[in-house]
Amino acid sequence: VVIAFLNSLSGIAAMSAGFIVNSIILIVAGALVGASGIILTLLMCAAMNRTLLDVLKGGFGTITINNEYEKDPISTSPEDVAIQLSYAESVVIVPGYGMAVAQAQAAVKELTNTLKDKNIEVKFAIHPVAGRMPGHMNVLLAEVDIDYEDMFILEDINSEFSSTDVVIVLGANDVVNPLARTDEDSPIYGMPILDVDLAQQVIVIKRSMSPGYAGIANPLFINDNANMLFADAKEGLENIIKSFELV
Ligand code: TAP
Repeated sequence: VVIAFLNSLSGIAAMSAGFIVNSIILIVAGALVGASGIILTLLMCAAMNRTLLDVLKGGFGTITINNEYEKDPISTSPEDVAIQLSYAESVVIVPGYGMAVAQAQAAVKELTNTLKDKNIEVKFAIHPVAGRMPGHMNVLLAEVDIDYEDMFILEDINSEFSSTDVVIVLGANDVVNPLARTDEDSPIYGMPILDVDLAQQVIVIKRSMSPGYAGIANPLFINDNANMLFADAKEGLENIIKSFELV
């Protein structure tokens, strides 16, 4: 957000310089950069439910946070995930920053094809600030030709989670953290999240219990309907795909 804001200021500075040196090109180019930067800044603030002032003042990380979990999560294996998926009729995949780190998008496509071949409905739920830049997930999924019709924004997919058989949370964390709904003291309280905890079953693929960008624990991971597949996103998916051959 800060980078987009500074970018916008650079456009406004260029536009001002255009007025001083009487250059129409500089005025128009500066105005375009300034306006697009400020639009992007405000869109990202809205996606995090923060004011620009809050973001500039420091945002996350200024509060002492308890990152302890009350109980151990239920861990699962690629074989068990393949069995779970093969009994599902509807699957929603929620990609996050970890998918980008692992460069797992090709494996996502392969799993999608495998599921669709078995007549299982597959959708993608895209949070506006998933990853580390606007449109991060859309770009990675488009790279491997995931259909645009299968990608849904938060507002359109949230009501569907309660009727979804299995949600795969792939390297996402903050964008599926139910504390944003329930804990007024949480630094992410009020941020719109994907309500994946309402699905019948949730499979979370990440390497450990470590927190995401906001640095806070995620009670989704110890929910009764959640299973953790502790793995790199790409390796985890590849092992699930291999396990399908045995199912
Ligand atoms: P995060 O909350 O940052 O969580 C990413 C998770 O990915 C981590 O918990 C990490 O857990 C896991 N991970 C990392 N490498 C992995 C790998 N190789 N394989 C599997 N998992 C891996 O991500 P998110 O849910 O996408 O949320 C984005 C966050 O970034 C939000 O807080 C948002 O506000 C912030 N942010 C977004 C933007 C934009 S514009 N998108 C810009 C700046 C900041 P492990 O280490 O346990 O694997």
